[in-house]
Amino acid sequence: MSVQAVADIGLIGLAVMGQNLVLNMDDHGFVVCAYNRTVSKVDHFLANEAKGTKIVGAHSIAEFCAKLKRPRKVMMLVKAGSAVDDFIEQVLPHLEAGDIIIDGGNSHYPDTIRRTKYLESKGFLFVGCGVSGGEEGARYGPSMMPGGSTAAWPHVKPIFQAIAAKVDGEPCCDWVGETGAGHYVKMVHNGIEYGDMQMICEAYDILKKTLGLTADEIGEIFTEWNQGELDSYLIEITRDILKFKDTDGKPLVEKIKDTAGQKGTGKWTVVSALDTGMPVTLIGEAVFARNLSAIKNERVAASKILGGPSGKFQGDKKQFIHDVSKALYASKIISYAQGFMLMREAAKENDWHLNNAGIALMWRGGCIIRSVFLGDIKTAYTKNPELTNLLFDPFFKAAIEGAADSWRRVVSQAVLLGIPTPCMSSALAFFDGYRNAVLPANLLQAQRDYFGAHTYQTLTSDEWVHTNWTGRGGNVASTTYLA
Ligand code: 6PG
Repeated sequence: MSVQAVADIGLIGLAVMGQNLVLNMDDHGFVVCAYNRTVSKVDHFLANEAKGTKIVGAHSIAEFCAKLKRPRKVMMLVKAGSAVDDFIEQVLPHLEAGDIIIDGGNSHYPDTIRRTKYLESKGFLFVGCGVSGGEEGARYGPSMMPGGSTAAWPHVKPIFQAIAAKVDGEPCCDWVGETGAGHYVKMVHNGIEYGDMQMICEAYDILKKTLGLTADEIGEIFTEWNQGELDSYLIEITRDILKFKDTDGKPLVEKIKDTAGQKGTGKWTVVSALDTGMPVTLIGEAVFARNLSAIKNERVAASKILGGPSGKFQGDKKQFIHDVSKALYASKIISYAQGFMLMREAAKENDWHLNNAGIALMWRGGCIIRSVFLGDIKTAYTKNPELTNLLFDPFFKAAIEGAADSWRRVVSQAVLLGIPTPCMSSALAFFDGYRNAVLPANLLQAQRDYFGAHTYQTLTSDEWVHTNWTGRGGNVASTTYLA
C-alpha cells in the first residue's frame, strides 16, 4: 500500500521544543508529520498532546519522508552536534533533489556552513534556523532566525512567518542570509542574552549590598523599571523571581547556589569576537563571570583569606536606585552596539548581507532578549541601514550621554565598596576607549619595537619603521605575521 504524501512539513525530535513547534504549526493550519528516534514517543504524543489535531506520525524514516509533500521539508529539533549529521544521513536516501532539511537546534554556525555546502553539493537545500523563546515561545510564537540555502526560503517562509511571534503585526522571522548566517545571529542573540542576564545580576547585587535591600524590595524596583526604557522579558522574569517565596515564606532566590551553568553559546560568541578582532568585551565578561561563579569552593576559601573595603554607602538612596537603572541601560546600549559590531565583521568575512533592522525586529518579540529597547534599535537601523555603530544614532547617542553620569557614579561606588560589576564597568571602559581618538597604544607599539623590533608607524607616516632603542643590537626589523 503506498503512503500518501499529506504533510506540509515533517519534524524530527519530539522533546518539548519539538512537540511545541509541531502543535504551533498545527494551530496555524499546517499538516505536520512527527517522528522521534524512540518511536513509542510518537504514539504517546499522538494519543496525548496531539489528540484531536491534524498531526500525523511516522514509525520509520522511510514512512516519515513518504508522508511529506514535495519539495519535502524535514525540520530537525535534535541535540546540536553529531545527532544532526546522523539524522541528515538517515533521511538523505529518502529525499529527492530540491528537498529541504532544516536544523532548528542551537547548532554551531561553522557546522551549519559545512552542512549547507555539503547538502547543496548533493542537490538538496539546507536551512540552519535559530529558534528562541524557550518552551512557551515554541508553542505560541518564537523568534526565528533562518539562514542557509536562499532557494529554500520561499518554501519555508509561509510556515515560519505564520508560527513566529508578531510585533505590531510583523513576524519576528525573516531570512537572515546564506550558509551559517541564521545560526550565527542566534549565537550572538545568546551572547547578548548572557550579557543582559549578568548586567541584571549586577544591578541586583549592587542594590542588595550597597542599600541592604531585600529581594522583595528589589522586586518592586524591577516592577518600576519594567515600565520604562528597560521594559523587557528578562527584567519581567527577574521581578517575578525576586518576589517568589519558598514554602517557608522566604525568597527562593536567596537559597539558590551561586554557581552559573552554561551550554557554550556565549563562549562561541566570544571566540568569534576574538577571531574577528572585535572588542565584544561585555559578553566576554558575562561568560567569565559565569566561570568565576562556578569555582565556588575556591571563592569560599579566598573569602576567608583576602580582605576588601568595609565602607558603607553614604549617598542618597533614591538617587542611587535611579543611577543603577541608568548604569544598566547604558551598559545594555554598549552590549548591543558591540553585538552589532561583531555581526558586521562576521558578515564581511563570510560574505553575508545582514539586515540589522531585520535582526532587531526578529529579536523584538518571541525571544529571550525581547524588549522595547530592540524596537529603538530597529528604528535606528531603519532610518539609517548604513549606520556604522549604534552609538552614532542620535537617539542612542543622547541616551548614553544622558546616562553617563549615573553610570560613572554606580561603577565608582561599586569599586569603592568592593562589589564586582564586570559587565557595567567593562562597558564603561569600552565607552571611554571608543570615544577617545587617542589611546596609549603608541607606547605599546614602542614596547613591541623595543624588545622585538616589530616596527611601528608614526602619526604622520604610514611607513613601518624600527628604532634601535638601546644602541645595542642591530637595526634589523622583524617580519610580521599573524599567529
Ligand atoms: C533561547 C535560549 C536558549 C538557550 C538557553 C540556555 O533563545 O531560547 O537562548 O537557546 O539554550 O538560554 O543557555 P545556557 O544554558 O548557555 O545559559
